[in-house]
Amino acid sequence: RHLHAVLGIETSCDDTAVSIVTSDRRILVSRRVNDRPTLTKLGGICPGLVAQQHRTLLRPLIEECLHSVRMRAADLSAVAVSTRPGLVIALKEGVSAAIDISRLHRIPLIPVHHMRAHALISSFCHPDLQYPFVALLVSGGHSLVALVRSADHFELIVDSVAGSAGECMDKIGRELDLDCSVDHPGAALEKAAARAPLGSHLSLQIAGVPSSNGVSFHFAALKSSLLGQLNKMRTSGESIDVDQFAAAVQHQTARHLCSRLHASLEFLSDEGSIGEGTSLVMAGGVAANSYLRGCVEKVCRLHSLRFLRLPPSLCTDNGEMIGWSGVKMVEEKSPSIIPWESVPSSLY
Ligand code: KG4
Ligand code: ZN
Repeated sequence: RHLHAVLGIETSCDDTAVSIVTSDRRILVSRRVNDRPTLTKLGGICPGLVAQQHRTLLRPLIEECLHSVRMRAADLSAVAVSTRPGLVIALKEGVSAAIDISRLHRIPLIPVHHMRAHALISSFCHPDLQYPFVALLVSGGHSLVALVRSADHFELIVDSVAGSAGECMDKIGRELDLDCSVDHPGAALEKAAARAPLGSHLSLQIAGVPSSNGVSFHFAALKSSLLGQLNKMRTSGESIDVDQFAAAVQHQTARHLCSRLHASLEFLSDEGSIGEGTSLVMAGGVAANSYLRGCVEKVCRLHSLRFLRLPPSLCTDNGEMIGWSGVKMVEEKSPSIIPWESVPSSLY
């Protein structure tokens, strides 16, 4: 079979990430740059600033990657780039670089859906993964459950009414003043929770999250409940143990995630779409959290599903997942691939 090497470009949020991956599962090179200290000082993602970062860093980073593996762009099978969802002004930087490479070097352009790429990287780590599989995708922007039938065919099973698991943990992490200069706030929250005394995770009794829309996630409602609780404790002068609070937040996030996941798996199983031995992958930045992963693993066991784990570096945004999605789309002859002759001057 033909060996493919695909360049993956990721600029949907604050990471400028580039990687070259091959169809025989090698990561030839991978680079990821971000500036969390500055964004932390500014209180979160600042779209203009991250777009500026991609504009300055991306093209030299691509050159450097090609150079380091002694490849020319023309040697690539394709260039793959995240096109949605994400911050459009940030995405545009990656897309415009990819369009230029495609046209100049006459290689196909592959538009990649960022959330799908989070799920598809699982087949890089688990070569025997079979379709259909269940993807629990939990990131800063989205929380959803999908049934994956092919690289191009995702059936959305559960979405979030509002908010996402990552955004909920980020907001509370910042509110607790955790050090987010190195880590994502979610990762800082996980570290704080790990320092808490045993049993801390049960220290919060929060009101149930509204169960409207059946099995949908509602992380915005969970976030409000948790912030409300924090404010109540603050105004009543109660002393707050930050680590303990973090552990409780992590636990409540897990509860919400797992209860809705459980319901959606029951639905899929009743429908006959999944059965014993079907795989479930948990992907996206929040999947780096080992407490949440452990809880999801238990739900999988209950449903006799095979739980697949990913290394944390492939959970948070990375170039490999985009390049690998490109490889899968080439192998599966995806109709989304654009031949270089037909590449438009803009995708937006
Ligand atoms: O997938 P990702 O890198 O970017 C998006 O597509 O949004 O996910 C970033 C999210 C952030 O909300 C971040 O706080 C969260 O993933 N995250 C974590 C952990 N590491 C990253 N949340 C909980 N525990 C972690 N260890
Ligand atoms: Zn992501």
